[in-house]
Amino acid sequence: RYRDPGAGDKMDPFAEQEEWENYQSGKANLKFGSKDKKQASADYQYVFEDGVDFIKESIMDGVNYNAEMPSENPDDSIAKTAFHKLQEERKTLPIYPYREQLLQAVQTHQVIVIVGETGSGKTTQIPQYLHEAGYTKRGQVGCTQPRRVAAMSVAARVSQEMGVKLGHEVGYSIRFEDCTSEKTIMKYMTDGMLLREFLSEPDLASYSVIMVDEAHERTLSTDILFGLVKDISCFRKDLKLLISSATLDALKFSDYFDSAPIFTIPGRRYPVEIHYTTAPEADYIDAAIVTVLQIHVTQPPGDILVFLTGQEEIETVDEILKHRTRGLGTKIAELIICPIYANLPTELQAKIFEPTPEGARKVVLATNIAETSLTIDGIKYVVDPGFCKIKSFNPRTGMESLLVNPISRASAMQRAGRSGRTGPGKCFRLYTAYNFQNDLDENTVPEIQRTNLANVVLTLKSLGINDLVNFDFMDPPPSEALLKALEQLYALNALNSRGELTKTGRRMAEFPLDPMLSKMIVASEKYKCSEEVISIASMLSVGNSIFYRPKDKQVHADNARMNFHTGNVGDHIALLNVYNSWKETNYSTQWCYENYIQVRSMKRGRDIRDQLEGLLERVEIEPTSNLSDLDAVKKAITSGFFHHSAKLQKTGAYKTVKNPQTVYIHPSSGLAEVLPRWVIYHELVLTTKEYMRQVTELKPEWLIEIAPHFYQLKDVEDAATKKLPRGKGMAAD
Ligand code: CDP
Ligand code: MG
Repeated sequence: RYRDPGAGDKMDPFAEQEEWENYQSGKANLKFGSKDKKQASADYQYVFEDGVDFIKESIMDGVNYNAEMPSENPDDSIAKTAFHKLQEERKTLPIYPYREQLLQAVQTHQVIVIVGETGSGKTTQIPQYLHEAGYTKRGQVGCTQPRRVAAMSVAARVSQEMGVKLGHEVGYSIRFEDCTSEKTIMKYMTDGMLLREFLSEPDLASYSVIMVDEAHERTLSTDILFGLVKDISCFRKDLKLLISSATLDALKFSDYFDSAPIFTIPGRRYPVEIHYTTAPEADYIDAAIVTVLQIHVTQPPGDILVFLTGQEEIETVDEILKHRTRGLGTKIAELIICPIYANLPTELQAKIFEPTPEGARKVVLATNIAETSLTIDGIKYVVDPGFCKIKSFNPRTGMESLLVNPISRASAMQRAGRSGRTGPGKCFRLYTAYNFQNDLDENTVPEIQRTNLANVVLTLKSLGINDLVNFDFMDPPPSEALLKALEQLYALNALNSRGELTKTGRRMAEFPLDPMLSKMIVASEKYKCSEEVISIASMLSVGNSIFYRPKDKQVHADNARMNFHTGNVGDHIALLNVYNSWKETNYSTQWCYENYIQVRSMKRGRDIRDQLEGLLERVEIEPTSNLSDLDAVKKAITSGFFHHSAKLQKTGAYKTVKNPQTVYIHPSSGLAEVLPRWVIYHELVLTTKEYMRQVTELKPEWLIEIAPHFYQLKDVEDAATKKLPRGKGMAAD
């Protein structure tokens, strides 16, 4: 709806550069309105003349509950250790007065829905209360989070509050990273990890309590967990279930869990002034930067929280803000910039929670994670551009893409609320009041209704849940999407024609990866190249942050990158070359610098690889290497990704072979200039065009050889070599 019509068709000389900048984040150029984009190099000195115009539209209905803030007792501060101070802080949280009532309710009921505003202490306190009340004597208290960063940071906070080492009594478990031990009694984990735990422990016997936190986010894994925990609660009467949510529409949760009681924690909320822009902003990044600076120089003390869509955007804003404030020198107070996003290294994450020094102002640049998962104290101003990145899936074509989309009105309210936690706040929306009222959806559509379900279907099938149509979904997925997932798994040979799990499927389910990636790994056994294939799978799992391309050294960076592509081997093999070269230097950091490779991503890749190696052993696939036969490696890749094949057209564009769609090779690919006739790609990303990312050349006969049930000869025959012209209606189907 917000797409600039025709934006994808324009021949823009800067498109490639822009693509590069969008590269890591998959950022789309979606905007409110259609004002011309401002020059990126706008003179930063003139922010005050060229500011963003806001109108104060309304005041959010702020209710002052017990708004009195706890006073600091000066006598205490001298002697109190950090630990005691934390204990005191715990008592000031909105949830604290309800501790006894809550424990009473948990004792009386097996399932409870808990509602409390962000920051009231649900995530950090409830598991501790349960521990203090003795629940951890009977088993672990598990608490799920939709986001990795939240699981890690909350576990770290709770371990501090309890005065224990992280990973001992309090731990966390996220994909590819298990920070728990024998001692762990309170475990924070991503919802996806708990889902995987069902595979090894279908009744969750080691848990006494499961808290499905952030239930309002309705992630795919959370929705599936609802069905699974509801089911086991019937025969595990000793298992307590807490479903906690930050939004008030908890009735739906209660209804689903057989009218479970709703426990509401009254929040403390101060009024929030909402400001809208007078006209749509063409470039929300630029508008956000200008707004931050406007707030910084015109508004009283208080920290700023800016919502951006991803790492790349956050890094851009970080860089520009640093540049602009440097230009202003000592004329303004210090502005401390704190980024927070999923892949931010743990040691940097702590920075956002540090108190702001006197006289300075903190600006937190966050993804959606700060909407409800993380609470940052001291925020008085929120800047909300109105976008977030969201996965969407077209069940007809089976294509999935990560797109920047307008947020929902519910999200906008949550974001605004972040500014009114400790005093009256202000929220600057970088869109108009009209946009808010008329263009935003009421709520975000649950992920289950807009995503590829292959992974979940495979997990459910491995849990022995065969009848998916009658699975107890809170909101069922579109039947078309379920069917597509079954078809895909059948084509991958993970399911047989009766929809039952095959041996291949069982092995695939062991890998915490998308079915296409796990199939590629399982297939590597046949092609005797499992070593190469797990390296490639790990590098792909790291995401698009392997290559580093600083603006002032693009030529050097590109040359370095192309060295890994010698012989036009394709992007997958290039990733393998990067990994192997790094390994040869004994994992040298210096080597990474010299080759414009991000060392942090490589280390993560190595960690992931170690784990995949362990899983190979578990499914009894021998580690074998076959570097002299790259075709074998490519065939293994094809075994997983044959759905993603495309053929070059005369125009220089490609057409996907099944469900024909026009796509292009991403400019970051080593094959962007080579344009092989047939390719296989890792993923599609829609920015200015529909781009294939991570592309490798393919021999069309492989498709028939590897996926004879999916491709027929007619799919791979080149028009030019066709012996007989085919009339309409003569095709096989
Ligand atoms: O889950 P809910 O949003 O209800 O609150 P919470 O995450 O338990 O946060 C309660 C308090 O702990 C907040 O005031 C946060 O400032 C603090 N906290 C923190 O300092 N560091 C963290 N990593 C998490 C929470
Ligand atoms: Mg929470």
